[in-house]
Amino acid sequence: REYRLAAIPGDGIGTEVIAAGLEVLDLVSALDGGFRFEAEHLPWSSEYYLKHGYYIPAGGVDYLKGFDAIFFGAVGSQQVPDHVSLWGLRLPIAQGLDQYANVRPARVLPGVGSPLKRSEGVDWVIIRENSEGEYAGNGGRTHQGFPHEVGTETAVFTRAGVERIHRFAFELARTRERKHLTLVTKSNAQRYGMVLWDEVFAEVAGDYPDVTTDRELVDAVTTRMVAKPQSLDVLVATNLHADILSDLAAALSGSLGIAPTANLNPERQFPSMFEPIHGSAFDIAGKGLANPVATFWTAVMMLEHLGEDAAATRLMAAIESVTAAGVLTGDLGGTATTAEVTQAVCERLRAA
Ligand code: NAI
Ligand code: MG
Repeated sequence: REYRLAAIPGDGIGTEVIAAGLEVLDLVSALDGGFRFEAEHLPWSSEYYLKHGYYIPAGGVDYLKGFDAIFFGAVGSQQVPDHVSLWGLRLPIAQGLDQYANVRPARVLPGVGSPLKRSEGVDWVIIRENSEGEYAGNGGRTHQGFPHEVGTETAVFTRAGVERIHRFAFELARTRERKHLTLVTKSNAQRYGMVLWDEVFAEVAGDYPDVTTDRELVDAVTTRMVAKPQSLDVLVATNLHADILSDLAAALSGSLGIAPTANLNPERQFPSMFEPIHGSAFDIAGKGLANPVATFWTAVMMLEHLGEDAAATRLMAAIESVTAAGVLTGDLGGTATTAEVTQAVCERLRAA
């Protein structure tokens, strides 16, 4: 089997971790023997934007439809406002390929310290609605520069969009040992879209009697994540809420540097996109210090999505064996470089 992979390293440490990720993927596929990746590098980045005036050339999103998966680094530069880079590259891909389900696992890997005392309870999957809500792009500004200037940012929730993310969340919860799903909203203060979320959730729940559920407001769930992590399993939340919760989850599981994510088009009409959740990390970019574990774990999710389960299991075991052995980058309190962690994972893969 051959998979066409679009590699979009983007900016900053995105380029470093995607290079490491491709190296590991090549080795995993060579050791497996049953499949290989044909990776095409797309240079879409902030540097490219500053040169051409756009992140994605005309027809670029359509071009991506010809790939089996997208392996994305990060986008963001000190030379470009963040809303321009995010809306220039990552959101057009996720929205243009209808990758409406953003899956974000969080777990404390062996050898990794969590700031929580009882961190063994941190074993969650956060499902983020990835196509509408607060990031629907609805809003505008009028009277710019005047004292009466107005900026609106309207969250858009559609019944179809809410129902499909809830169904996805129930399906995923069903595959987990604990089969528990927590609905996260803010339906006390936000009376329309969030109440729609609550209602559709209750309807969909009827089709999944094997999944236990509860509801939490987004502010309250942050304290529960810290105080009673073991009470949570799968969480489903809006685009904005899940964005915030998954950074918290990453920190509670040790570092942003280990947290992976999959932007899925579950119907497989279009390719899905796999990326570490962290950004381009100006403070460590270009120094070879980025933690590649988030990207390796992301690669595991990509292998699973492609149906290469044996290779996925093998790679995850290699990652965990390396963290357990204390080969850790600075964000996890270690002294290893990106290259050292990558070499260690490759050695474990070869030895397995
Ligand atoms: P960031 O995730 O780039 O960095 C936050 C902190 O975590 C920094 O101290 C960084 O050194 C550390 N960190 C992140 N990833 C790490 C890794 N793999 N290994 C070790 N340490 C790591 O977030 P920040 O600083 O808020 O944003 C920087 C730029 O990235 C901005 O332009 C922002 O818009 C963009 N960004 C892009 C994202 C994406 O492409 N999906 C996601 C988040 C931010
Ligand atoms: Mg985020």
